[in-house]
Amino acid sequence: MTKILNILLNSYQQLNIGRTVVENPKTILLNEMRKLLGQAYNPYVAKLEDHCDIILTNLEDGTNCLNDCLDSSRPLIVDLGCGAGNFLRDYSMVSPECDFIGFELRFKRLVKGAAKFKKRDIKNIRLIRARAEDIGFWLPDDSVSEVHINFPDPWPKRRHQKHRLLTSQYLKLLHMKLKKGGNLIFKTDHQDYFLSVMEMIEQQSLLKLVEYSDDLHNSAYREQNIATEFEMLFKGQGCPVYYLKTVVQGK
Ligand SMILES: C[S@@+](CC[C@H](N)C(=O)[O-])C[C@H]1O[C@@H](n2cnc3c(N)ncnc32)[C@H](O)[C@@H]1O
Repeated sequence: MTKILNILLNSYQQLNIGRTVVENPKTILLNEMRKLLGQAYNPYVAKLEDHCDIILTNLEDGTNCLNDCLDSSRPLIVDLGCGAGNFLRDYSMVSPECDFIGFELRFKRLVKGAAKFKKRDIKNIRLIRARAEDIGFWLPDDSVSEVHINFPDPWPKRRHQKHRLLTSQYLKLLHMKLKKGGNLIFKTDHQDYFLSVMEMIEQQSLLKLVEYSDDLHNSAYREQNIATEFEMLFKGQGCPVYYLKTVVQGK
């Protein structure tokens, strides 16, 4: 209420003092209200409910739903920062014998992903609205066959690099969640991020590098590749895609 009163007051002041161009008060008010409502109300938050059979948001309910979906005899593939789900959809269609879980923060991408899976009647994917950093709460140790990290936010500025998902600490967590013989697969368009991950892998003995390319789409590995939304975007712009695959060591 105070905020609305402030907006009204501001609009009044803008109209009446020191302005050379006087805007229509209705326009000013509507623009301010739109901004306010946009922040407070994202229509995709409510739409999560329509897909509560696929999108899990609550750890307690989630554990039950995951138990329904997860059959430890089936390989589990995890996509961290899965976006709008194209990779999961396309992968699940060629590997119906596996279960799939995507972690994603953005409501719109989650809803779009769930709708895509329903359209194809895909039953073996769950999406979790949680930070990829929190997989420790959601997934048991030694449960995952493959972790895919496709085009994570690169945080290119040096002072922001601490926000990158892939750190040596996080590699330890992934190692814990991966089964013996499991794989971590990473793709990015960002050379610096790629090189730093290569270095981290070389410096520890948890994961062994088994494949890599600094131009995936012009390498032998392109045959097995499943492209993601962002990958198609970068490919269209002529950017090379960096790719690496590791296998778990020491379990
Ligand atoms: C650049 S997009 C890549 C999306 C998809 N993997 C692809 O390749 O098309 C990065 C995605 O990660 C999500 N994301 C960013 N930080 C995250 C986090 N901490 N946990 C889960 N998802 C995250 C973003 O919302 C975004 O959808």
